[in-house]
Amino acid sequence: MSPPASATRRFVILISGRGSNMRSLVEACAAEGWPAEIAAVIANKADAAGLAWAAERGIPTAVVPHKAYPTRDAFDVALAECIDTFAPDYVLLAGFMRVLTPAFVTRYTGRLVNIHPSLLPAFPGLHTHAQALAIGVQAHGCTVHFVTPVLDHGPIIAQGVVPVLVGDTADDLAERVLGVEHRVYPAVCRWLAEGRVQLADRLVHVEGDAPRLFFAESPHG
Ligand code: GRF
Repeated sequence: MSPPASATRRFVILISGRGSNMRSLVEACAAEGWPAEIAAVIANKADAAGLAWAAERGIPTAVVPHKAYPTRDAFDVALAECIDTFAPDYVLLAGFMRVLTPAFVTRYTGRLVNIHPSLLPAFPGLHTHAQALAIGVQAHGCTVHFVTPVLDHGPIIAQGVVPVLVGDTADDLAERVLGVEHRVYPAVCRWLAEGRVQLADRLVHVEGDAPRLFFAESPHG
């Protein structure tokens, strides 16, 4: 189901930890006046630092603790029930560290978006920066994509590129990638808010042909 053509889009953001991407979305939405509302921030851990930040700003928050559910399916059903109380147009994964079941993903087809810290299809899964260093790639980055049942393989909306520099550690790379994440994800969510993103046959089109490749602002981040 696509959101209506002219409306304030409702975003629900899912986090597991510090939530710096969530913050970048909240701040850009307010500063740039997107036709969108952050309807809620939901975490699977009560101590996710980003929850307190969102609550302080008056954004509705909720916790669905994955440890309280006996199976992945049961957790995903509870999570979907919680999400749906906020009636979102889009569900944005922003450092949400749970693998989601096909039933959950299918429920939100075309409305579930993730940011992954690599240039997909390279390095799906965890430890992407260490994987990048181990194989010697010279460019690394992030990908914002629609989520499909195959982990980290959905249609690509936009990517951000950073160089890999001599002597980089995984932490150096993580910091540099995060810098470009905070530009790519807000740009994508603005397009979503403006109703400019179409998904057809596994390929994404952004109305107006906005450039969908972003670069680090300096070689160091
Ligand atoms: C980011 O690198 C994101 O790409 C990955 O997890 C990290 C979350 O960071 N999925 P934050 O919680 O948004 O600060």
